Amino acid sequence: MRYIRDLKENEIVVSFSSVRSKQVKSKRNGEPYLELVLADRTGQIVAKIWDDIDVWREQVQEGDSIKYKGRVQLYNGSRQLVVERVRKVAPADQAEGFDESELIPSSDFDIDEMWDKLHALIASHCRRPCILQLLRSVLHNNRDKVRSFPAGTEIHHNYRGGFLEHVLSVLESALFFAAKYPALDPDLLVAGAVLHDIGKLEELGNPKNPAYTTKGILIGHVVLGRDILLDEARKIPDFPSDLLMLLEHLILSHQGQLEWGSPKEPKTPEALVLHYIDDLDAKMNRVFRLLRDDQNDSEFTAFDRFLGRAVFKGTPTNESSEPAVPLPESGWPLRLVAGE
Ligand SMILES: [Fe+2]
Ligand SMILES: [Fe+2]
Repeated sequence: MRYIRDLKENEIVVSFSSVRSKQVKSKRNGEPYLELVLADRTGQIVAKIWDDIDVWREQVQEGDSIKYKGRVQLYNGSRQLVVERVRKVAPADQAEGFDESELIPSSDFDIDEMWDKLHALIASHCRRPCILQLLRSVLHNNRDKVRSFPAGTEIHHNYRGGFLEHVLSVLESALFFAAKYPALDPDLLVAGAVLHDIGKLEELGNPKNPAYTTKGILIGHVVLGRDILLDEARKIPDFPSDLLMLLEHLILSHQGQLEWGSPKEPKTPEALVLHYIDDLDAKMNRVFRLLRDDQNDSEFTAFDRFLGRAVFKGTPTNESSEPAVPLPESGWPLRLVAGE
């Protein structure tokens, strides 16, 4: 098995992948071609089939595991595959050692460890019993989905375990800011981190080949998440209504801006922090994946339309000959600059 992450320009490759998406598009001369997005556990790549598409379009469907032969090209600074032959995986492939789990892009972090850490952080930072009960109940009732779903189909954390990785990462940032700004309510920040994207568990279907459900397209994860919150809070006797309203606001405003899918903009300090750390976590995940997957020789990655920029690939400053200045032992981790 040749992994997508390792494919090199001009390489002729015979390997396995899953089909994330399939679209018929038009060449400049108007003739149709087939564009596939292929994925394995190391990443995904755009693949094009230029000829005989009436034959090939019947051979592969979205969600299929396939065997393909193709050549790797650079196009606008990104790798793509030009596929010559493709077929569905056959039982004989398994007999020869093909393992389907190799095709599912997955988090680099261990699911059990993330799951345990999430529960430990909630237990050690939630002060109100009703919020602790709410979060435990939501996680318990959605256990399998929380542990397996991606956080999205494309933009960030779009792999198995990505939802859990994102939620845990936002929670860690939330705890950092709860300590930095003691006026913030840590319970609200913890609950907001854990619950803000919970509607994605209904917005997306089939973690193996994540795609938007009809409900997801028509209603969206923000409102679906608020529905889950209300359903769960109703099961807890005397859940304080003012607290519930603030939790609802955290979910409804976390996308930050009306044009980013938020019905409301953040209007509480905790909602503002949640929005920024959520956005930051999504963007940093995108940046690091972009840097990891980039194959071209330029100093910069290919332009990324979600980040709105190409990213500089220069080496980090640890190669600098300047002596490092020791950091203070406690307090705010300000980085001191020599001579200041
Ligand atoms: Fe979201
Ligand atoms: Fe999020």
